[in-house]
Amino acid sequence: FSLQPYNTFGIEAHCYRFIELQQRDDVALWASMQQQSDKPFFLLGGGSNVVFLPWIDKSVVKVSLHGIELLKEDDEHVWIQAAAGENWSDFVDFCVQKGWGGLENLTGIPGTVGASPVQNVGAYGVEAKDAIESVECFGIASGKWKNVLNSECQFSYRDSIFKQALKNQVIITSVTFRLDKNPSLNLSYGGIQQQLKKEGILQPTIKDVSRAVKTLRNEKLPDPAIIGSAGSFFKNPVVAVDKYISLKNHYPDMVAFPVGEDYKLAAGWLIEQCGWKGKQIGKVGVYPKQALVLINLGSCTGNDVKQLALAIQQSVQEKFDVKLETEALFIE
Ligand code: EPU
Repeated sequence: FSLQPYNTFGIEAHCYRFIELQQRDDVALWASMQQQSDKPFFLLGGGSNVVFLPWIDKSVVKVSLHGIELLKEDDEHVWIQAAAGENWSDFVDFCVQKGWGGLENLTGIPGTVGASPVQNVGAYGVEAKDAIESVECFGIASGKWKNVLNSECQFSYRDSIFKQALKNQVIITSVTFRLDKNPSLNLSYGGIQQQLKKEGILQPTIKDVSRAVKTLRNEKLPDPAIIGSAGSFFKNPVVAVDKYISLKNHYPDMVAFPVGEDYKLAAGWLIEQCGWKGKQIGKVGVYPKQALVLINLGSCTGNDVKQLALAIQQSVQEKFDVKLETEALFIE
């Protein structure tokens, strides 16, 4: 059994056991079986943020629950629940078509609805946390369903309680979003406004915004159906103001954004400055249009990716004294 179709990087890998949960009953059944097992497990969504090493000595558990339900609505909002296995981008497009605002900037992100709260997916000025009302989970040890409210999720940049205290403790089964019937647009990412202007759109709707985002993504990011990748491979590092000032003095062109009292540096810029953009090492490469993205040039292995990632981290460390953390997860 090959895991190649189950990761957007398109990496060939094998695992101890592969289990697909297709119905809610499967979740409780699997959890009680897992309690008896010595083998660890790995919960897989759309496989868009993972790098599989050749042998995974774990049960890989794919959550394939489906269904979208309108829970309630009032004059201003709808509360819509989507099962964890729903395709994220299709779900976003469904909401955009209905005219419900809040997720339109997040169109085109590969992966599943269930993965969206885990790393609080974000793009073009919006993060999933801005629209998530609550996350429904099943406790693997407790055997109980639980609704984790947004305020309990400890959301931050590419992080949440599901990557921390609740990691491997729960299975996310559905996510409820609160969306706007009278959407206000988030045009904070400059590129969106430029794109809308280019199209001559003066009074944009959420449909226009989602189309603009799709255009921007196509310009910078590889289509996972054509080129294997895990999207942004590294997180944008956050540094203290002193560090930012000393770097900015050396490199006046450096791209950075203030976050609170600190500064978030554009990892793509740092990597590009180290000369990696467009480089190829064996069967893995750095995407020529966005240095933050590593790509499969055809049958690369997880180890190939790991080597390149390490080499990039070392270069950035040496040149800028900045630690790059991977956003993608290595699974073995
Ligand atoms: N830049 C470079 N060289 C590069 C890439 C970027 O100089 O090779 C510069 C750009 O010119 C720009 C700045 O870096 O000034 C930021 O680039 P961009 O707007 O493309 O965004 P990013 O910070 O590189 C983040 C997310 C993306 C998301 C975009 C748009 C992270 C780790 N990545 O990338 O998310 O689509 O913003 O909002 O935060 C993902 O997580 O998989 C992902 C694609």
